[in-house]
Amino acid sequence: MPFYSDDVIEEVRSRNDIVDVISQYVRLQKKGASYFGLCPFHNEKTGSFSVSPGKQMYYCFGCGAGGNVFTFLMNYENYSFSEAMEALAARAGVDLPKQDVTGEARREADRRNLLFEINREAARYFYALLRSDKGKRALEYFKGRGLSAETMQKFGLGYSDKFSDDLYRYLRSKGYEDDLLKDSGLIAIDERRGGHDKFWNRAMFPIMDANSKVIAFGGRVMGDGEPKYLNSPETAIFNKSRTLYGLHLARRTRRPQFILCEGYMDVISLHQAGFDNAVASLGTALTEGHANMIKRYGKDVCLSYDSDGAGVKAALRAIPILKEAGITCRVVNMEPYKDPDEFIKALGSEAYQKRLDQAENSFLFTIRILEQDYDMNDPESKTAFFHEVAGRILAFPEELERNNYIEAVTARYQIGFEQLRQMVNRKGVQGGLVSGAKKPLRSGVQKKRTKEDGLMQSQRLMLTWLVEHPGLYRSLKGHISPEDFTEGIYAKVAGELFAQLEEGGELNPAKISSGFSDEEEQRQVAEIFNANVQGMEDTPADLAKAVRETLIRIRQESMEQKRKRLDPADTEGLAQWIKDRQSLQELEKLHISLDQG
Ligand code: CTP
Ligand code: MN
Repeated sequence: MPFYSDDVIEEVRSRNDIVDVISQYVRLQKKGASYFGLCPFHNEKTGSFSVSPGKQMYYCFGCGAGGNVFTFLMNYENYSFSEAMEALAARAGVDLPKQDVTGEARREADRRNLLFEINREAARYFYALLRSDKGKRALEYFKGRGLSAETMQKFGLGYSDKFSDDLYRYLRSKGYEDDLLKDSGLIAIDERRGGHDKFWNRAMFPIMDANSKVIAFGGRVMGDGEPKYLNSPETAIFNKSRTLYGLHLARRTRRPQFILCEGYMDVISLHQAGFDNAVASLGTALTEGHANMIKRYGKDVCLSYDSDGAGVKAALRAIPILKEAGITCRVVNMEPYKDPDEFIKALGSEAYQKRLDQAENSFLFTIRILEQDYDMNDPESKTAFFHEVAGRILAFPEELERNNYIEAVTARYQIGFEQLRQMVNRKGVQGGLVSGAKKPLRSGVQKKRTKEDGLMQSQRLMLTWLVEHPGLYRSLKGHISPEDFTEGIYAKVAGELFAQLEEGGELNPAKISSGFSDEEEQRQVAEIFNANVQGMEDTPADLAKAVRETLIRIRQESMEQKRKRLDPADTEGLAQWIKDRQSLQELEKLHISLDQG
């Protein structure tokens, strides 16, 4: 939620060159007027991610992610808009004016900052307590679980005291008011009895966000007792379905995948054993939000959930969510141990690495579990199993992929390749799937692509051309106006671009995008200015022809829409419309020139 004035936003934006900023995160290579690299927002092997120094925007031709330097940090670092502003202002040495802020928004931001502060104070408090006399038993507990002093320090582990209000009193002594403390997730305020702590006499695990800021805690009973773990409730700064424990460390890993596990101790043991890529979704089921975060770091996943029934169930639920996000996922077998922590303690890190190397393809894992529901000694049940498997194989869009899976299933179960293939194909025919169906684009992109029609593409092309060849404006002026851009935010974007073109001077498309407060809208602006013009402008004559045709298409459609809105009784309007409509024919002869002058 931007609460800075447009001028300040623009100053910060213009003083942070987008190529410089993104280069800190993505290795970029210059190709023509743009830079290209591997997209950090989806997993890819070829670089579809483009950064344009001219437009000061980025856009991924693979997944559609896009925006300006602010959106990049918001997506990559999981920053709010104001956090991105602050980071970029600091980077460029711009002082952010305090008064430049509306009261409401500032209070909101201040409150968030105070909650971060309180959580940090609490983490320090617990941390010191663990290393004091009072923390002896907790320290023994952690040691007993095999953690080194270095590991305890790295994860900021701590201890909450036996008294039920000593954190409360400590935080009050630091000047934090009840009204704020009650929203921190750490303190409950009771009208009569006053404040008391949520965590007492527990081994404490601070939960950090991707930027290493403490946002919540988990506390474990030492020994047996219920509940085993107590966690902070969700707060203004703690959203469970967007938090992965250990991410602040794992994001720096050089390995191509994250190990996704269930618990605090699993992550910590794995890191201690050298697996710096372990994260956990902490007892909550994996959400789409988690999957998108993982994808943002461009990682695949090795699922290392508990090997008990609950863990297997959780894995079966997580696999489609990861797949939907475009993440390749394999499943680690930890038998006969319960979880990675126990496995490593028993067999060590080399053995775990072996299990990682042997991790099972998620589809094969799924059908192996499925098999347990069937009696493979009973012919009828066995047939039903293969029917189920064939149905699932059919879900793979590519024939080659389907054949590979048929082959893999054939190798594992007593069934012939042709037999299974025919079963799959028959199901395909029944379901109306033409064999060799085209591979759909990745989810998300796919939905957008099918919804978008040629018209949007035409409107985008026109706006992209105007940005890349501003000289066109002289020829087009008077023949097209912002109202002709009929789709969603396109009219507003066109209005601002036309205003910039009218002014002359240097174009500033990134400014247009930062005028939108919604991230999705900023992404759309990047999309609008990155229409794929390849092959349409090999020569100036090609370009002129393409621009003319696109102009006509856009005008025709906007005329059509205008007609639908016309009141049939409005004869004057109708006459005007017919006149306008006739003038469209003249566009066929319009001379389109690229010249600026
Ligand atoms: N969990 C929780 N509340 C509980 C139990 C579990 O929030 N009462 C979450 C914790 O994040 C925990 C994870 O679920 O780390 C996995 O639970 P479990 O497998 O029971 O615990 P372990 O991680 O194996 O814990 P430990 O090794 O300390 O026994
Ligand atoms: Mn465990």
